[in-house]
Amino acid sequence: MAIVTAKRLVTIERHIAEQEHLHPHATGEFSRLLRDLMLAIRLIAREVSRAGLNDILGLTGTTNVYGEAVRKLDVYAHEVIIRALEHGGHVCAVASEESEGLLPFPAGRRGKYLLVFDPLDGSSNIDVNAPIGTIFSIYRRRYRGEVTPEELLRPGSEQVAAGYVCYGSSITLVYSTGKGVDVFTYDPTLGEFFLTIEQLRIPRRGKQYSVNEGNAKRWVPELQQYLDYLKTSSEDGQRPYSLRYIGTAVADVHRVLHYGGLFMYPADQANPSGKLRLLYEVNPLAFLVEQAGGRASDGYRRILDIVPETLHQRVPVFLGSPDDVAEAEAFLQGRHPWQQSGNGHHLP
Ligand code: AHG
Ligand code: MN
Ligand code: MN
Repeated sequence: MAIVTAKRLVTIERHIAEQEHLHPHATGEFSRLLRDLMLAIRLIAREVSRAGLNDILGLTGTTNVYGEAVRKLDVYAHEVIIRALEHGGHVCAVASEESEGLLPFPAGRRGKYLLVFDPLDGSSNIDVNAPIGTIFSIYRRRYRGEVTPEELLRPGSEQVAAGYVCYGSSITLVYSTGKGVDVFTYDPTLGEFFLTIEQLRIPRRGKQYSVNEGNAKRWVPELQQYLDYLKTSSEDGQRPYSLRYIGTAVADVHRVLHYGGLFMYPADQANPSGKLRLLYEVNPLAFLVEQAGGRASDGYRRILDIVPETLHQRVPVFLGSPDDVAEAEAFLQGRHPWQQSGNGHHLP
């Protein structure tokens, strides 16, 4: 695996400024938007690192020591991102997984960008100190004037930037403006993100799969066949694959970006569109995976080509190493040679 560690000492802000200078008509607005977003991320990171202390420090319950109502971490993250951005004048409106519709910013403070985010991904992992994340996606407005939710019903291929932060054993920011993927690591003593991997590339094929296999009996038989195939030894040693599943999409995708293989949240009988949300989670992750040389699909179509019908729409997802995702698609579509050779016959 060829992960090239960055040699230069570059902070996220310097990196963004350097990238913006490459655009002849850049106004600096995009850089300032990201600077504000990074402030919100630092505030969230601070709260995440203290999450387990809230009980003994008396910060849970209805009010904290300052007499303020205490927020759950996901509500806190949602609010802090909005507060960091609403007066900057770079963003016109935001859409968050934690709120119903589009949230327009006050008139006079509306810029040319739209920000879509999942403030806290993997909420069920907060209480057990497992990795959690924040996912974001940025679009440029198409026209001036009043902003409506329909303005966000555009394919993920129109994202101008996307990224996520993974709060794990260290805090990493993975980010792309459509020119490859760069990885930054947070130094909490300095409050700075430093470039640690320049131009991350996903391996063509991996040896790990990531899925909530507890749902397997509710999947279509073709998908059950694919999982059976991944678990069947092959002579070349490529299979069986190993299973890795955290239950935080950010953390599972972060591992897939480094080691290869694939992450899936398929449709099942109970959830015909899967679980993950197209705008808040899947599109930004798909953008990053493609920018790293990977593939992202709903099993039949490229994720980034899907035109959303609603803001909170869900979509089945298969993303990761290009060869692995192509193979999952072949199974789902019933055209993989292994299925045709009768290996899937014992499945329902
Ligand atoms: P969120 O915490 O933002 O609601 O997202 C949770 C999502 C995603 O991060 C993860 O991949 C998935 O839920 C896990 O779902 P299961 O518990 O069904 O495996
Ligand atoms: Mn989420
Ligand atoms: Mn969330």
